[in-house]
Formats: sequence, C-alpha cells, structure tokens
Amino acid sequence: MSVPATVQTQEFDVERIRADFPILHQQVHGKDLVFLDNAASSQRPQSVIDAVSHYYMHDHANVHRGVHTLSERATAAYEGTREKIRSYINAASTAEIIFVRGTTEAINLVAQSYGRERFQPGDEILITWMEHHANIVPWQMVCEKTGAKLVVAPITQDGELDMDAFTKLLTDKTKIVAVGHISNAIGSVNPIKEIIDLAHKHDVPVLIDGAQSMPHTQVDMQALDADFFAFSSHKMFGPTGVGVLYGKQALLDSMPPYQGGGDMILAVDFEKTLYNELPAKFEAGTPNIAGVVGLGATIDYLNQLDFNAVAQHEQALLDYAQEQLATVPGLRIIGTAKDKASVVSFVLDTVHAHDLGTIVDSEGVAIRTGHHCAMPVMDFFKVPATARASFAFYNRHDEVDVLVAALIKAQRMFA
Ligand code: ALA
Repeated sequence: MSVPATVQTQEFDVERIRADFPILHQQVHGKDLVFLDNAASSQRPQSVIDAVSHYYMHDHANVHRGVHTLSERATAAYEGTREKIRSYINAASTAEIIFVRGTTEAINLVAQSYGRERFQPGDEILITWMEHHANIVPWQMVCEKTGAKLVVAPITQDGELDMDAFTKLLTDKTKIVAVGHISNAIGSVNPIKEIIDLAHKHDVPVLIDGAQSMPHTQVDMQALDADFFAFSSHKMFGPTGVGVLYGKQALLDSMPPYQGGGDMILAVDFEKTLYNELPAKFEAGTPNIAGVVGLGATIDYLNQLDFNAVAQHEQALLDYAQEQLATVPGLRIIGTAKDKASVVSFVLDTVHAHDLGTIVDSEGVAIRTGHHCAMPVMDFFKVPATARASFAFYNRHDEVDVLVAALIKAQRMFA
C-alpha cells in the first residue's frame, strides 16, 4: 500500500520479525519453506501461541456466567480483548465491538439483521465487481427474501474500481454500500474514505470488508466514519475461528439479534424474551474464548510494530515481486491497480494455475491457486483461475527469487 513520502520510519528488521514466527523455520519437501499464501491465512507469532496455551493451562472457564475465579479470569481476558480492539481501531465504545467467527459471519449478521428488517422490493445494495464471495452471497440471500436488488459497480482493466460508474450507481434506491477495502484476488486498494463520504451524502450506510486490509494497515473507525467494518483474526496473525464486526452503536442498537441463545438475553420466559444490551445482544452462546484471548495477544504484537515501516517493506516486496515476475516468459499479472497491497495474481501461458501450485510446493513454496473465492473477478479477466503470491511483513526479497526459480522450473517441465 502506498506510504506518504514524508513519513519517517524506523529500520525494518525482517530477521528479527521472522524469529517471532516459529512455523516459518521448517523445511517442506526438503526445501526451506517460503510461505506466500498469507491472503488465505497468515501465521502466528510465538506470543499468540503462548497466550492461547496459557489460557487453556491456567484460566479456562465459561465467560459471563460464573462468580468463581477462573470464570472471572476468562471474562477479564475476553473483555480485555474487546477493549484492545476498540482502542486499536479507535471505535467510540466497546459496545461497538462484536465478536463473531470471522468476516463472513460479520457480513451475514449485517445482511440478515440490518437488511432483512429494512430492505423492500426495488431497494438496491451496491457492491463492486472485485468482492469475494463473503461480500456477495449474504447480500444475494437477503435480496431473495426481500425483493431488493444487488447492483455491482464495474472495475477497470487494471482492476481498479470505476469511481465514475460507482458514483452514478449510488442513487436514492441504494440502501447500503458494501465494499472490500482490499481485493483478496488481485490486491487493489479501494478509496474507502471517498466511498464512505460519497455514500453518506446520500444518507446511505457503508459496510467495509476489512479482511484483507487489517494485516497490512491500521484503520481508525472514527476518522473513516464507516458504519460497519468486518475483519477476521486469522488473516491478521491471530487465531482462526474469530473475527470482529464493528458497527456504530446507534445502528447496532436499532438492529434485532442475529441469533438466539445464552448470553444475548436478560430474561427468558415462554411468552417473551428480553434481549441483552450491546455487545452481548449479538453474541449468542459460548463464544470462541481462546480465540478472542489469542486475538488480544495479536493486537499486543501488532501494537509494537511500526506500520509505516511495515508498509514500506511490503511495498518494496511488491515492487520487487512484480518486477521479477515480469521477467518470466509468458507470465501475465492480473490486477495492475496503482494502489495495491502486497498481493500478486498471475497466470502462465503454458502451465495451468493448479499444476503450478503443486510444482512450486515441491520447491517449498506455498502459493494459492484457484478462483480465490472471487469467481466474478476471474470471469472479468476471462481466466478460470490464477496463481497468487501474497506477502506478509515477515517475507523477504530472496523468497521472491525462490518463487521465480520455481515458476521457471514448472515452465521447463511443461515445455
Ligand atoms: N478469502 C481467502 C483467500 O483469499 C480464503 O484466499
């Protein structure tokens, strides 16, 4: 992602960072692991692994339900993470931080709880052509139930959102805008502040899918003025099975519960149930306590990084990767937006993406191949699948060289 030229950063010591991630120090098929599948799921530092292990060894009990010491400790750790998240994304209140399973559940929650209540036949939900399935299908499901219509803003051949078209598609019929901050498939960074400001001029709320941006950048909910913001822990170096829905308190207060069960109630009888206040109203059942505790440790880890240095390192990796990949004969990069995260999708004219994935794996290189849960993006670029190398701040330039050598080997095998 672009870094302001005037920003001063501390030196980025990638080896020191790599020392924090034990999984990176192993061999696969007799070769040093080169992990370039971070957009699918990134790796965890030792401190996060230790926090989860410590929780299970010393503190585990159910949250919000016991007066005994372990339950109080578990509750304190769980609620402590909520405050860490609030502070990390600069939300106004912990009532605005809802723990969910991940980005997918966060978007489904908004689609069902916000959309199903409000949308009428003829209303429109505006998304973009570069969304992944998690920001398409939940809206289609709510359209089927309400008669609302899914409207898709086009992208350009570079893989950028066509802002002129987007602006024209935003009308009085639009009832919500749902946009990815960064495309998982091609890495394009969307101008989310501009999108939010534009939508607010029409009094339209905006959901930002931050699944791919949280590993690369920091966001400020109050500065952005996003109405909803969804993200997953596992893509930002935390445990799997947990994520966050941020929502403005007034909006969340106005929405009915998404699921019923324990913790989201104040009182239950067979005639009527009284629902709990935020955030408990949206957290039915025993949550992923260990995941939330691990996410708290992840935030501690991220807080000690200099994100300007991270952005510079990742931009340098992206530039180097795109430059080196361009030297591979017959390789075409898919997605050449001006503002990109460190994600490079590509196709080779002689080797299908799936074969490529298997061959580079035999060289120790992990990349994702396929449609990346974003089939419409593949259709737009008229490819069935791409190979995708996605970099995290712990990746090194020489790992690009290993990838390029593995691609050339694959080409020779298929020649
Ligand atoms: N959406 C995830 C990816 O981009 C799984 O690979």
